[in-house]
Amino acid sequence: MAKPPLSMKPTGWFQVAWSDEIGVGDVHKMKYFDQEMVAWRAESGALTVMNAYCEHLGAHLGYGGKVVGEVLQCPFHGWQWSREGRNICIPYQDRPNRGRRIRTYPVVERNASVYIWHDVARREPFFDAPDVFASFGDGSGAGDYYPQQRLYRAGLELHPQYVLENGVDFAHFKYVHNTPIVPVFTRHDFADAVSFVDFTITFEGDDGQRIEDVNSGVQAINGGLGIAVTKSWGMVDNRTISAVTPVDDCTSDVRFMVYIGRPELESGKDPARAEARGAEFGREVIRQFEQDIEIWGHQRYSDPPALATDEYAGFTAIRKWAKQFYPEAVAAQEGSMQ
Ligand code: FES
Ligand SMILES: [Fe+2]
Repeated sequence: MAKPPLSMKPTGWFQVAWSDEIGVGDVHKMKYFDQEMVAWRAESGALTVMNAYCEHLGAHLGYGGKVVGEVLQCPFHGWQWSREGRNICIPYQDRPNRGRRIRTYPVVERNASVYIWHDVARREPFFDAPDVFASFGDGSGAGDYYPQQRLYRAGLELHPQYVLENGVDFAHFKYVHNTPIVPVFTRHDFADAVSFVDFTITFEGDDGQRIEDVNSGVQAINGGLGIAVTKSWGMVDNRTISAVTPVDDCTSDVRFMVYIGRPELESGKDPARAEARGAEFGREVIRQFEQDIEIWGHQRYSDPPALATDEYAGFTAIRKWAKQFYPEAVAAQEGSMQ
């Protein structure tokens, strides 16, 4: 693929794993933002994500590194590193090296995902990673839903912004997802780092219906460029999380998660059947997301794009909003302060 003209080092929260992939004592290898990293879980359960190379002589901590209580021990010469990335023990010397530090990343575990805060300027997080339940403020929780269903596609040639632009792209629903009529947006709020998009949409009926008569829709919350959560209304109760994380200058890992609501069962109804139906519906939501991936994975970013009149406001707003997450925005800000 042509390298996207957008930076692959944006600022924000990005998913790097699922929590259940890293048990207590595990050291998990990964590469994101062109950086070899490890995620390791201490005895207490606390999770640390840090760059992978030991500051001593550069061993990769993901190959033989060992969790010892609350620290990570290098396989090469046994130096121990704390959750803050500090050296706390050189086994053959009476004091540690206090100066050197392995870069660590702010990390949160939420909705069974591991998110890290990435920022080339190393600022502290300036917004929260969205929560597929709590962020909608409706008192819902994981217990109201069947277990999370997942899709994981590694190393795709796409940029996180492509996925978010779906949120303002009303016309693609009819063509990519075969909705009977084109949806209509009822909210575009791009005032902050966390943005909100609502739309009225139906997957049922024929093309003779009017969008004004449709009583179903989706609310989406975008936490920066890395994570978007959605909630449906007026249709099968579903929540989704899409998370796109740059691996290097050309590729990203895509993760997509779906929760289907547990229906209230009338007596005599078979809960196993209801769950199977829920799982089937979840697979259908994932299949729709895969239809998008097929497009995104081969797309070339068009800038400036040729837009239809009705597309102009949404795309302009989201692209302007997205700019704040790129390193160029930080550079411009620092420049204006001098
Ligand atoms: S390279 Fe890690 S302890 Fe020597
Ligand atoms: Fe889509």
